[in-house]
Amino acid sequence: DNVAKKRKMYEDFLTHISILKDMDPYERSKVADSLKTKTFSDEEIIIKEGEPGDTFYIIIEGNALAIKGKTVIKTYSKGDYFGELALLKNKPRAATVKAKDSCQVVYLDRKSFKRLLGPIEEILHRNVENYRKVLKQFGLDTACIEGN
Ligand code: CMP
Repeated sequence: DNVAKKRKMYEDFLTHISILKDMDPYERSKVADSLKTKTFSDEEIIIKEGEPGDTFYIIIEGNALAIKGKTVIKTYSKGDYFGELALLKNKPRAATVKAKDSCQVVYLDRKSFKRLLGPIEEILHRNVENYRKVLKQFGLDTACIEGN
């Protein structure tokens, strides 16, 4: 059936995502079941800085850019994730994320993120330190990632 097909399709892919590969296989299969797919075209805005956000994304094909103000602060490719900060910290989106060429993503809503990625929340929180370093390197305000 559909559920089995989707699980098979994403289970293997998810083992290649660095933050998810240490998850329990059963938990990871639950993530696979909950993913939805969306394709963005070149230059399309996936996340807009300053807006409220309820979605967590992983790229399954293509590339994207994270931009703060006018500065490109990160480039993303297959297997990279973004959009977790607004969910972890209950803050507006810290940056804009824009598709570069065509970009296919899988995504989770806030409820599924909290329920399914609870076991790795600590790892996601730890990564915020890297964001802080990058923002400082570019001379950008770090207020967007502080708190919680
Ligand atoms: P979020 O704030 O939900 O939406 C914008 C996303 O950009 C953010 O989550 C992170 O996933 C991502 N991002 C990439 N680099 C940075 C950075 N240096 N500071 C903050 N967010 C970043």
